[in-house]
Amino acid sequence: MADRKMDIIRALKEAGKEPISGEELGEQLGISRTMVWKYIKNLEEDGYVIESSPGSGYTLVSAPDKLYPSEISIGLDTSIMGKEVHYFETLDSTNDLAKKMGPKAEEGTVVIAETQESGRGRKGDHWVSPKGGIWLSVILKPGILPAHAPRLTLMAGVAVANTMRQFGIDASIKWPNDIVIGEKKVCGILTEMDAEADHIGFVVIGIGINANVSVEELPEEFRGSSTSLSSVIGESINRAEFVRDLLRSLESEYMRFKIDGFDKILDDWTSLSNTIGRQVDVITPHKIVSGKAVGVTPDGALVVEDEEGLHEVMAGRCIYK
Ligand code: BTN
Repeated sequence: MADRKMDIIRALKEAGKEPISGEELGEQLGISRTMVWKYIKNLEEDGYVIESSPGSGYTLVSAPDKLYPSEISIGLDTSIMGKEVHYFETLDSTNDLAKKMGPKAEEGTVVIAETQESGRGRKGDHWVSPKGGIWLSVILKPGILPAHAPRLTLMAGVAVANTMRQFGIDASIKWPNDIVIGEKKVCGILTEMDAEADHIGFVVIGIGINANVSVEELPEEFRGSSTSLSSVIGESINRAEFVRDLLRSLESEYMRFKIDGFDKILDDWTSLSNTIGRQVDVITPHKIVSGKAVGVTPDGALVVEDEEGLHEVMAGRCIYK
């Protein structure tokens, strides 16, 4: 069903303003005109506006603002990222489902939902995921040591920040891996893995972006420190186009990671970061590390310099002074 619908949308998009007859669609897809009509009705229920004029055929008037696989995959030229997209109106958490699918899934499989009821953030926090956002998880099978998995989080941060920049948005990375616009968080990344001591079965990279979300929809405690793409640019973004560009960017960073290693990605992370060079307080469960952020290690630790020397902080809340 989903594939056929995708084929019809693709054919209608290719035809543009030229109507395409039920007969021609049927021939292209190897199905009857009645079946074409049923799929068209089904697409209309999904929110597509399709004009049908007797005698000439069907024309696509508009597509809904939904992250349907049919919307994401049209024009997606990646070889692994998003070749398979599992779409849901609502899910508990895309990371949870991706973890269940992980063992059998093809690398690059994406799980995406319009809303999440129990979206998860780092440190077990709840991640508020209203309509209009981009909540997705990607399954990877990188064949690296478990200790190197944090590198994939940094890699994803680079891919997200670069995608936002392609959309003309001045995004940066705040350590450990928040994507921020100015000082306000617009995206969080949660990487989880299925691993034994020396082997990773799969990694799930969960990416949550406040895309077309009004900051008022977020819990009060986050409103001051969060933003969204639509509130920064003053209009809604095309989410399907954004996801497509993000998948392209993730694939090119991932290929770079596998072929050239991590050094260049770390360099890019450093230049995209707005943390390096700043005076910071990093609050860890045991202490507060204060000083100048001077770099990040390949494992994602922040290097903070004070009068006693250099300190590597693996995790904590970073506050700019
Ligand atoms: C953070 O705390 O900054 C990380 C937030 C990660 C949220 C995303 S939304 C998609 C994916 N599914 C989840 O349950 N969490 C991640």
